[in-house]
Amino acid sequence: MKKILVTGGCGYIGSHTIADLVENGYEVISVDNNSRSQPRILEGIEKITGKKVKNYKVDLCNFDDTFAIFQENDDIAGIIHFAAYKAVGESVEQPLLYFENNLVSLINLLKCVQEFNIPYFVFSSSCTVYGNPDEIPVTESTPPKPAESPYGYTKQMGEQIINEFSKANPTQCVLLRYFNPVGAHPSGMIGELPVGKPANLVPAITQTAIGKLPQMKVFGNDYPTRDGTCIRDFIHVCDIAHAHTLAMDFLILEKSEKRCEVFNLGTGTGVTVLEAITAFEKVSGKKLDYIFAPRRPGDVIAIYANNDYARGTLGWGIKYSLEDMMATAWRWEQRLKADEKFFQSKPAGLN
Ligand code: WQD
Repeated sequence: MKKILVTGGCGYIGSHTIADLVENGYEVISVDNNSRSQPRILEGIEKITGKKVKNYKVDLCNFDDTFAIFQENDDIAGIIHFAAYKAVGESVEQPLLYFENNLVSLINLLKCVQEFNIPYFVFSSSCTVYGNPDEIPVTESTPPKPAESPYGYTKQMGEQIINEFSKANPTQCVLLRYFNPVGAHPSGMIGELPVGKPANLVPAITQTAIGKLPQMKVFGNDYPTRDGTCIRDFIHVCDIAHAHTLAMDFLILEKSEKRCEVFNLGTGTGVTVLEAITAFEKVSGKKLDYIFAPRRPGDVIAIYANNDYARGTLGWGIKYSLEDMMATAWRWEQRLKADEKFFQSKPAGLN
């Protein structure tokens, strides 16, 4: 069984990817300092897969502690790197926190990849690298525009660091550009655990619907779109997770002809904020209490993916619909309410 090291394994996309990797025959170890995640999410993975996953509670910004993991595990076949801060608004308020955390951790990890000759490296990137695109849908060769936030710059810089690293080392790399990951595992055992007040749309919807948050704000209804609200490419977190397993298969089966491959992970369908709310109301039977508010600085008007390359090269497909995304997100929110002490989120202000 090939062993994969997953950083940020207790996080939202990391935990769903671990479940998918294990169900597809990989052995997995996680590295997560739990500064913004809960180690208990690994119990959910065990309930889904029947397998215990070990987590090294290590900060990747500490080189010696990171290096020690590789000394203890000399059979790592590949790495999937999720661990990073990802709150767009926080990155604007605290840019140095984001540049230090997201880039020092990446560089430390790549130093270990080099030292221990790890053959394959998959990086969690984001559609935010496209900035405000001139044309949509975006393809992998759509030229990146200036990022809209320091968070976005850490993803653009991360891609450049990995690209140059792959030219100078034998390690083959894959960059996966997520669009808007939403929803939760259909089992109801794992899902998103926003820290503090959620910045993202779908947890804001579900927390408003369950009464955890007061009335929700829709940021801007005067955009040049079909209903005046922003357009995004919402994609189920399990479809995103499975793409990581396929990317690791793609590398291990030596199908990659490039030093560094890039794939868009989106459904290829643009959905407005209001259409997302309508889909939620349909599956939950709840009327969402929201008002229109001014536009949010840094929001791009519209973006969605051309996903032909990922579908054609990785054999990847979209399994979950927008309604599935909303239904699984809502089921998870209801589970959190029923089990509040099990999953209590950290105090607000840490998002
Ligand atoms: C989507 C739309 C908001 C909340 C960012 C990052 C991306 C990824 C996902 C990490 C926007 C509107 C939101 C609310 C609202 N990050 N909205 N009311 O900004 O597209 O993407 O998060 O993985 O890299 O860039 O996602 O969900 O924050 O916003 O009206 O209470 O929903 O204005 O138009 P975004 P989002």
